Amino acid sequence: MLQIHENISLQNFNTFGIDASARYFVEINHEDELVELFMDPQWKGIERLVMGGGSNLLLTQNFDGLVIRMNIRGIEHRINHTDVFIEAGAGEVWNDLVNYAVKWEFAGMENLSLIPGSVGASPIQNIGAYGVELKDVFDSCRAFEIATGTFKAFDKAACQFGYRDSIFKQQKGEYIIVSVKFHLSLVASINTRYGAIEQELNNRGITNPTIKDISQVVSHIRVSKLPDPSTIGNAGSFFKNPVIPVTEFEPVKTQYPDVVNYPAGDGLIKLAAGWLIEQCGWKGKVVGNTGTWKNQALVLVNHGGATGEEVYGLSSQIIDSVYTKFGVMLEREVNII
Ligand code: EPU
Repeated sequence: MLQIHENISLQNFNTFGIDASARYFVEINHEDELVELFMDPQWKGIERLVMGGGSNLLLTQNFDGLVIRMNIRGIEHRINHTDVFIEAGAGEVWNDLVNYAVKWEFAGMENLSLIPGSVGASPIQNIGAYGVELKDVFDSCRAFEIATGTFKAFDKAACQFGYRDSIFKQQKGEYIIVSVKFHLSLVASINTRYGAIEQELNNRGITNPTIKDISQVVSHIRVSKLPDPSTIGNAGSFFKNPVIPVTEFEPVKTQYPDVVNYPAGDGLIKLAAGWLIEQCGWKGKVVGNTGTWKNQALVLVNHGGATGEEVYGLSSQIIDSVYTKFGVMLEREVNII
């Protein structure tokens, strides 16, 4: 029997630590419970918010609908020659899954160590860090289709992964991911392309890194650059790195020769939003109860007691100033509720 709670605070369910409440709240521990929930006419027209770890979310007001918190657990793996398939419930904590893989020496996810959030949320924005994206280790996922009340399988192509993008983001509110299957390997192919990994391995005198070494080094880099949400509320990168046509990039480059940029294929250039924001003087700035992180300007933080509106207001100011200085429009990466 599903337990629906009323008027509960979401403060402990979002990593920004924003104190907003939900009119109704239900936790889903098994996929059958989704069928039960969506068959109940009481919840038919109501506004819904599906939550995993709440790590990519900014609540700007109380939510006057039904919050569905995905808590389906379980991790299983199957080995076929050197291929490893791991399937995990949507409610598993992402980093617990990474630790599972690292412990078993299954290669592929180690660069994605310590990313906050849940397994079920990971395909939605195709999470990525330190040279690897979720799509590189994704096999398939299973999702509940709200319109039909049935479960559907999505292979990699069907997910239409892009930079921090997928069909689940494009068709928001249509599907609820219940489990994800990953394709890993018993043969490690260590990825140290991201400069800071190489540098930290050198510092540690490691020349032949294992999966565990990479996981530890990545975790170390994250801790040194990014605020820990359990002490300082945040949702990771607040904006996407803007991708612009070379023609728009050229005038920026002429005026600001140091602009941090990466080729993004098809005549496109990706700019480092953190750099753009820092150049506008925002890095480490405290504005009321909010601000940007001192070691990474792309991360907005809650210094304690910030409201979602306050954080949103700061993000608008940042967008305006980056646009004024560089003519580049930043896009929020975090879900604004
Ligand atoms: N930079 C600055 N100032 C800053 C921040 C960054 O000049 O305040 C410069 C850095 O010096 C570097 C470049 O910008 O040259 C890139 O910075 P970084 O390597 O920290 O990565 P990022 O592009 O800012 C992205 C992801 C992060 C991910 C890192 C590492 C996005 C939106 N963010 O950040 O993902 O951890 O790469 O791979 O793509 C997240 O999505 O929540 C997230 C944390």
